[in-house]
Amino acid sequence: MIPALETRRLCKSFGALTVAADIDFLLAPGARHALIGPNGAGKTTFVNMLTGALAPGTGQILLSGDDITHVAQSARVRRGVGRTFQINALFRSLSVLDNVALGIAERYRFATRTWRPAHAYRDLRDECLALLDTLGLADEARRRVLDLPYGKQRLVEIAIALGLKPKVLLLDEPAAGVPSMESGRILEVLDRLPRDISILIIEHDMDLVFRFAQRITVMVQGAILVEGTPEEIARDRQVQQVYLGEQRHD
Ligand SMILES: Nc1ncnc2c1ncn2[C@@H]1O[C@H](COP(=O)(O)OP(=O)(O)O)[C@@H](O)[C@H]1O
Ligand SMILES: [Mg+2]
Repeated sequence: MIPALETRRLCKSFGALTVAADIDFLLAPGARHALIGPNGAGKTTFVNMLTGALAPGTGQILLSGDDITHVAQSARVRRGVGRTFQINALFRSLSVLDNVALGIAERYRFATRTWRPAHAYRDLRDECLALLDTLGLADEARRRVLDLPYGKQRLVEIAIALGLKPKVLLLDEPAAGVPSMESGRILEVLDRLPRDISILIIEHDMDLVFRFAQRITVMVQGAILVEGTPEEIARDRQVQQVYLGEQRHD
């Protein structure tokens, strides 16, 4: 089995602060995998290295077995590395449709050297509307992002990432800041995503993590503390001590 994504001895420091210490990590094809750990553990930094937003100090990153350690961020997107951001990164005064269309238009540009505006525009709009429909956002297509409840804004971020047709989807706290009533909706959407997309989710909401993930990796101070099934993680003494018993502070 070739992992969808793999890191080998990935290291990164910011000055004297080690944020990734020899991280060996496998994301299986079709994975529903969560990365958890206290604030400052290095989770976002890890994802930033996977996407190419940040260069690792040393170590390797492989996508479906191909070394992409030195491949540029935009080329990784083309090769199927999709992500959402922990902070809301939408064009808030544009409509939902326009936000998703901007992302998909990027993909069309990658795919077609000859840009045929008439066809392409219709295909683009139809694809956007179909995508929004699968996420339960069809009725919001023409609303401005800033007029939506926050939970739906976060779904638009997921829609944009999906519009780029990722093979691997990296979700950095997709439910952060979302009231618990609305976070159930995010979980429903994630549950319905096709299994050919391998998913790594960073999330602090343990209820969501344990309902979604089939595998959990716990990161502490830039290193992997333990990895296992949700059952194994839930009964791990070290995990209970460093993480699960602890309340969030942000
Ligand atoms: N660009 C940066 N320069 C210096 N330190 C950083 C930078 N980005 C993150 N850090 C530090 O690295 C550590 C890990 O951060 P981060 O990856 O955001 O953790 P997490 O996502 O697990 O909360 C934190 O101590 C953070 O302050
Ligand atoms: Mg983070």
